[in-house]
Amino acid sequence: MKRMGLPVFAFAIALAVVLSLPLSAHAQDASATYKSKCAMCHGADGAKVAGHDFSSAAVQKESDADLVAVITDGKPPKMPKYGDKLKPEEVKGLVAYIRTLKK
Ligand code: HEC
Repeated sequence: MKRMGLPVFAFAIALAVVLSLPLSAHAQDASATYKSKCAMCHGADGAKVAGHDFSSAAVQKESDADLVAVITDGKPPKMPKYGDKLKPEEVKGLVAYIRTLKK
């Protein structure tokens, strides 16, 4: 039994690493997408568009579905639509990212 310990442990670690990779890659994608596509208007902290501060209670109280809809369909004239540029999972990732900006 003693000889089994290490390989089993190593396997468990390897499995944990493999399973957690897609998750962390996803979170990283959302922050990279935010920085390259959204931050120039909304600011790194989400607070740059007056009245639409992502860290504010007003935005944070909106549902995920509402935020997904704004990002997907845009809000003319200034908020571009991303429905044709980002996949639905990417839009959801951005909403999750916006949740992390809450103060
Ligand atoms: C060209 C500038 C610009 C870019 C780029 C931009 N936005 Fe916006 N966004 C705006 C403006 C301006 C508004 C406010 C629209 C309005 O008048 O209601 C807004 C509104 C929003 C809202 C609604 C906030 C609220 O108060 O309900 C969300 C969510 C949002 N943007 C997310 C994003 C995301 C995510 C990206 C990147 C994929 C992005 N925006 C890129 C300018 C931009």
